[in-house]
Amino acid sequence: MRNGLPRHVAIIMDGNGRWAKRRQLPRIAGHRAGVENVRTVVRRCAELGIEVLTLFAFSSENWRRPPTEVRLLMDLFVMALDQEAAKLHENGIRLQVIGDRTAFPKRLQRTIASAEALTRDNRALTLVIAANYGGRWDIAQAARKLAEDVRAGTLEPADITPEALSPHLCLSGLPEPDLFIRSGGEERISNYLLWQLAYTELYFTDCLWPDFDAAQFEVALESYACRQRRFGMTGDQVEGREAPAAVPGV
Ligand code: IPE
Ligand code: IPE
Ligand code: MG
Repeated sequence: MRNGLPRHVAIIMDGNGRWAKRRQLPRIAGHRAGVENVRTVVRRCAELGIEVLTLFAFSSENWRRPPTEVRLLMDLFVMALDQEAAKLHENGIRLQVIGDRTAFPKRLQRTIASAEALTRDNRALTLVIAANYGGRWDIAQAARKLAEDVRAGTLEPADITPEALSPHLCLSGLPEPDLFIRSGGEERISNYLLWQLAYTELYFTDCLWPDFDAAQFEVALESYACRQRRFGMTGDQVEGREAPAAVPGV
């Protein structure tokens, strides 16, 4: 049995710095090449009819980088959004940014808000950019909202379940990621979508992000197509040779 196309692909775009270093270029040249490659992958997702693409652009830990690199990354983000927002809109792409944007320069916050507003009603592809995002932050901010409901007397602590928490998490309302891709050779999650990746198929490649082209993407999709997603069941149940059992308490 083969899986069809993933509805939602979540990517950690890693390896820009090493790509630049190999060419004896400054790290920012790698980030620029990385942005170019975002265009390629977004285009491919739209062509294929993938519903959601979530890209990790800046983690809550990336503030630890040298201040000049952080500043250049922010400038690049503003520039890319300014340049691309109209084109995304023309192509029917909806842009959403997840993460704690309050830490960003005001100019970047404004650029994000206007790109989101412009593309809000588009339906071709939802492009989610995770910026100043951390999976632990995401879970903590959702928990805080439930705590506020408890304090207001509208929620009992006993009613705090995964189902109660998940509407408050980033990406709620979108299908869960089916396929996770990390370029750049590291095999770790780096505080990306910790909750949302619970049953996502993971794919790691040594290819550095600026080199991760449509052909590399196809290899990842092919790997996904061959996986058996069991969600806790047996292979026979998934293949329909045996019925799935009821989950106690559900
Ligand atoms: C990923 O590339 C981009 C960001 C984290 C912004 P890196 O900058 O982490 O590239 P490497 O890992 O140093 O090669
Ligand atoms: C993860 O890459 C974050 C982004 C790609 C935005 P890093 O390069 O920051 O990850 P670590 O620190 O090596 O795990
Ligand atoms: Mg890295």
